Amino acid sequence: MTVKIYIPRDAAAIALGAEKVATAMAEAIAARGLDATIVRNGSRGMHWLEPLVEVETAEGRIAYGPVQTRDVASLLDAGLTSGAAHPLCLGKTEDIPFLKQQTRLTFARCGVIDPLSLDDYRAHGGLRGLERAISMQPAAIVAEVTESGLRGRGGAGFPTGIKWKTVLEAEGAQKYIVCNADEGDSGTFADRMIMEGDPFVLIEGMAIAGIATGATKGYVYTRSEYPHAIAAMSAAIEIARAAGVLGQSVLGSTHAFDMEVRTGAGAYVCGEETSLLNSLEGKRGLVRAKPPLPAHKGLFDCPTVINNVISLASVPVIMDKGAAYYRDFGMGRSRGTIPIQIAGNVKHAGLYEIAFGLTLGEIVDVIGGGTASGRPVKAVQVGGPLGAYFPRALFDTPFDYEAFAAKDGLIGHAGIVVFDDTADMLKQARFAMEFCAVESCGKCTPCRLGSTRGVEVADKIAAGIEPEKNRELLADLCNTMKFGSLCALGGFTPYPVMSAMTHFPEDFKPAPRVEAAE
Ligand SMILES: Cc1cc2nc3c(=O)[nH]c(=O)nc-3n(C[C@H](O)[C@H](O)[C@H](O)COP(=O)(O)O)c2cc1C
Ligand code: SF4
Repeated sequence: MTVKIYIPRDAAAIALGAEKVATAMAEAIAARGLDATIVRNGSRGMHWLEPLVEVETAEGRIAYGPVQTRDVASLLDAGLTSGAAHPLCLGKTEDIPFLKQQTRLTFARCGVIDPLSLDDYRAHGGLRGLERAISMQPAAIVAEVTESGLRGRGGAGFPTGIKWKTVLEAEGAQKYIVCNADEGDSGTFADRMIMEGDPFVLIEGMAIAGIATGATKGYVYTRSEYPHAIAAMSAAIEIARAAGVLGQSVLGSTHAFDMEVRTGAGAYVCGEETSLLNSLEGKRGLVRAKPPLPAHKGLFDCPTVINNVISLASVPVIMDKGAAYYRDFGMGRSRGTIPIQIAGNVKHAGLYEIAFGLTLGEIVDVIGGGTASGRPVKAVQVGGPLGAYFPRALFDTPFDYEAFAAKDGLIGHAGIVVFDDTADMLKQARFAMEFCAVESCGKCTPCRLGSTRGVEVADKIAAGIEPEKNRELLADLCNTMKFGSLCALGGFTPYPVMSAMTHFPEDFKPAPRVEAAE
């Protein structure tokens, strides 16, 4: 029987050499006349082990990694095709602790299947949620999603079912499903991994959203920096259309739904939903004032659902296994699982899907394994560039929307970036203001001007110019931006700035001048 060897086509794996490994493996297999085929899967999300090569055996999949081209010959010599021992052998993939301890609902197939095989997708439970949705009334689908407790994974954590209900009840001859795949947050890659590793789950989630709300057209809005995701999504959409999953009659039903990928140039603010809509309409990515809500007047003034990739990709498992199954995971009002993206100065960077409720300390110290530099962790920024910096003293905070908000932080898109004790938090605060100044859409004054003034004030503190007065000024500026900005770019930039100032006050006190010794 032909042996299947899996080598990821995920962008992170490619960045670490997967393309070259795949080529070298294909050449070596041909040269040795081996009966083996290479499947280009998604990533399992263990970045420090990429490129992770897996081989299918009677006992399950055996993993080897990180593999470089120079390892290919010795791997085959050792008997890779039968899962034999080798210094790079990691044993059974599913027994690797980082993977074994996860609860993969949304990412259940990512890294497991051939992303562009609809048969593989079906064989692993795909399309069951859509089939069930087709047999239900739209309001019942919306009720199921509401009962699951699913909240938006893009940042604000708004209940997905409530958003869908508003669009279902809105009047409009044309309605749209827009998938926010801009993924601008620092240290985040969950959206990209799904689009590259399991694109059909997003297609299925969007089709369910369409049937639930009466929308017949969907757009995946992503950025030009995601060429592999764009290629995988576009190819999957064509396959789904040819197989009748998309089109005038979704899976042979009376429902029509079709979709396409649209690419933005990559501005952080174009991830904000109203700015995204403008960009999608071919306009400048300027934030729109709300109301009207996109659910009432969104794309081309039509009722529009805008959801993050992970929100939409979590819907198929909810529709397949039922609201109660999903809702039973999690804590408080944070139901289900969350794909945490661990990045920065950390030993085990990658994607970790788990029920809400793990503490920040467990995520950083146990799962992440501490810093890659081996130095003590100083701070962790949670929730992208607008998220707060948490010190070790707050490591007992559970991963939960309300628990983070109670500590003046946010979960956002669940990206965490780890910093060791060499980080200068005044520099990080300055960077937050600079980022806001560069990315501001310019529509409102507190953000457009406040961020530039913020950079200047941070520079004055660093230069030791009236530090006490300028610290007060920076706090005052943050207050104005927080309450006076039109959207969360200006409104949340104070979070990293104020958290840095509150938890690391020593970094905001200029070091005394040291006179050079004779
Ligand atoms: C400056 C800014 C950038 C944002 N970037 C993203 C993004 O890249 N992806 C995303 O899904 N949501 C992003 N959001 C949140 C969206 O505005 C919106 O809340 C989200 O798409 C709604 O989907 P959800 O309910 O499924 O989370 C951003 C918000 C702001 C203010
Ligand atoms: S806060 Fe900034 S990004 Fe948001 S509308 Fe105002 S200027 Fe634009």
